[in-house]
Amino acid sequence: MVDAFLRRTLTQYPLDFTPDLRRLKPWPSLKDSLWRQPYLIELTYADNFRRVEDSIRGRNLKILEVGCGTGFMSLELARMGHDVVGIDPNDKIIRIARRTMETDPYGKSRGDLRYEIADFNKWSDDPGTYDVVLFSRVLHDLLHPGKILSRAHHLLKKGGRLICLEYAYDRIDRRAATWLYQIRRALELTGWYSSHLPVDPREGVDGIMNDALYGRKEHINKFEEMRHPLEQLFHGEHFSWHCYYCWDVFREMRIPDQRREKALAGLFNGMEQLLIDSLEIQPALFHFMGTKATV
Ligand SMILES: C[S@@+](CC[C@H](N)C(=O)[O-])C[C@H]1O[C@@H](n2cnc3c(N)ncnc32)[C@H](O)[C@@H]1O
Repeated sequence: MVDAFLRRTLTQYPLDFTPDLRRLKPWPSLKDSLWRQPYLIELTYADNFRRVEDSIRGRNLKILEVGCGTGFMSLELARMGHDVVGIDPNDKIIRIARRTMETDPYGKSRGDLRYEIADFNKWSDDPGTYDVVLFSRVLHDLLHPGKILSRAHHLLKKGGRLICLEYAYDRIDRRAATWLYQIRRALELTGWYSSHLPVDPREGVDGIMNDALYGRKEHINKFEEMRHPLEQLFHGEHFSWHCYYCWDVFREMRIPDQRREKALAGLFNGMEQLLIDSLEIQPALFHFMGTKATV
């Protein structure tokens, strides 16, 4: 998981890279990125966006997306007719978001869309400006999640909504790690995986657990550190768990035949969902939606 994270951060994007859910196409040079194949995006980013879409009620809303990355969610929200601001401190990523926005074939019918290079800790706007604040896979990264969510709370209108999709690898259990070991090892034995696991299953499972729990050098918030302020500052209206372990497998698998890769990706995703639904593993990705509480 650590290696995948570092490689992703260092990814070299093609000059014409436009990560757009409505213009999906293969980007084969992005070997470590899910954007390399449309079917991987359908199972991951597009699925996450459908969750966000389901959490939005109302028309012509003012929406802030914190940590928008390449901006694919902000773009879709603007296409739904909302006025959207996406912020992210990574200028390279924001350049990609702006290029995608500028070449958007649906640009004329969109709501306002603006991307800013900014750190949410230092960024501000008038209190009570937004109907929705969205955090998709960014809250884990931000120090003092309570303070961060208080800032979001402040920016929301009365009755405004906070949507948070987030992963919590600290919840990984041995069953999830064992399942990951089994599918990764099977891929590896066929030469279809980019890294190597120990042959001894116990050692392999320990390694996967260690990577998930302690493998990242930088700070990462634990589930309880995020859940607590979310529930204090917002009246929870929705909470659910979803597949996420398989995202790492998708990034690192190297299956030459695309039909086979698509089939296996669908199978791994379905298996993880089944294990979550039958309570066999502790899932990692959660979806929270709540309205601004009086504090
Ligand atoms: C894993 S990416 C998620 C991107 C996108 N939201 C998604 O769901 O795919 C996390 C993003 O959060 C951004 N980020 C990190 N620290 C931030 C901060 N202090 N303020 C705003 N964004 C931040 C990173 O630059 C990165 O683009």
